[in-house]
Amino acid sequence: MCRYSHSTTPTMAALTLRAALLFIVNLTIGLTLDTILGDRVQFPETEHCSERGAKLQYTLTDESSQNVAHLEGVWKPADGYEDRMSPNESVILNRSNINDQGLYRLTCGSEKLTQLNVIISSEISVTAGEAAGFTFHYFTAGKLGMYRVERNQQLVFELDLSSGNTSQGSGFENRTSVAPHWRSDGDLTLTLQGVKPEDRGDYIFHVFKVNKRGHFQAVRMRVSPAPNTEDRNPEQITVTPQPSCKEKIALICVSVAAVLLIAGAFYCGQKNPRICGSKVSGGAAAGGAGTELEMPPYTDTPVPVVNGHA
Ligand SMILES: *[C@@H]1O[C@H](CO)[C@@H](O)[C@H](O)[C@H]1NC(C)=O
Ligand SMILES: *[C@@H]1O[C@H](CO)[C@@H](O)[C@H](O)[C@H]1NC(C)=O
Ligand SMILES: *[C@@H]1O[C@H](CO)[C@@H](O)[C@H](O)[C@H]1NC(C)=O
Ligand SMILES: *[C@@H]1O[C@H](CO)[C@@H](O)[C@H](O)[C@H]1NC(C)=O
Repeated sequence: MCRYSHSTTPTMAALTLRAALLFIVNLTIGLTLDTILGDRVQFPETEHCSERGAKLQYTLTDESSQNVAHLEGVWKPADGYEDRMSPNESVILNRSNINDQGLYRLTCGSEKLTQLNVIISSEISVTAGEAAGFTFHYFTAGKLGMYRVERNQQLVFELDLSSGNTSQGSGFENRTSVAPHWRSDGDLTLTLQGVKPEDRGDYIFHVFKVNKRGHFQAVRMRVSPAPNTEDRNPEQITVTPQPSCKEKIALICVSVAAVLLIAGAFYCGQKNPRICGSKVSGGAAAGGAGTELEMPPYTDTPVPVVNGHA
């Protein structure tokens, strides 16, 4: 709501009055849009306007204005905007540039003001599970204000530069921090611990002071999967560990070998107990079960054991 205020040091009374007026108007209906340089920007209120002759104007710093688009069935670009805007139900500038930053006035019955901030961004790529560092510095010596970090218009982190109180957005609890010496050196670099794939996106940093947001900075973060995601898959840790294919094959081979040996020993033992006694002990030892002394039970009561393995 009250995110925009005009310059706090206007030189002329007329300007002061105008600034005050703009500020008051903005308090009730103003909208602030943040966009990253080069991204498309849509002016949402133009979509709900159906008044023929409605227009969107950009206010230049010398208080004159230039046309951006006008409504003629659909919104059509004004001179200078044709290469970035196609006729549409709403005004969309395809590639924002730094000169797009400023105040826009939509005349559609009443006047509606929109402040557009075009923010230069850097990009970082972080591996899931690791920590991300977002560099940000601000003059904190004796200054008041709120340092805010947002993503998709949602709070990520907030630090009250006067009290030092912090708050963290939903989903970012206990994961965000700034170095404790921020007050002395102005280093407000934000650390985000344990980055998750869903943390990707555009992080917007600014300082909010006396109804004015400033010192904008943006970081577009990409999250790459951890190199060995299979090993870290929590589902595989909670579920009973599944043997690998090689292990399964080895297990089957050993089982089959054991069954064959026992069956062979049983058969042989029945035919010729004295000769086969030593073979049985060796075979059973290879299968990891029993010693020579334990072998007689196999030969004495073999049928249930063999059936159980088969
Ligand atoms: C703007 O972007 C839209 C969607 O990508 C595209 O269809 C349109 O042709 C673009 N218009 C101009 C003027 O670049
Ligand atoms: C027209 O607007 C819609 C959204 O309102 C958008 O998806 C589409 O890309 C726009 N078309 C052009 C040509 O800009
Ligand atoms: C900072 O936090 C403390 C404790 O949570 C609270 O008592 C104090 O009012 C807060 N200060 C400000 C300026 O919000
Ligand atoms: C954050 O840490 C506090 C204190 O250690 C704990 O009570 C709270 O549950 C934690 N919140 C989350 C979302 O992990």
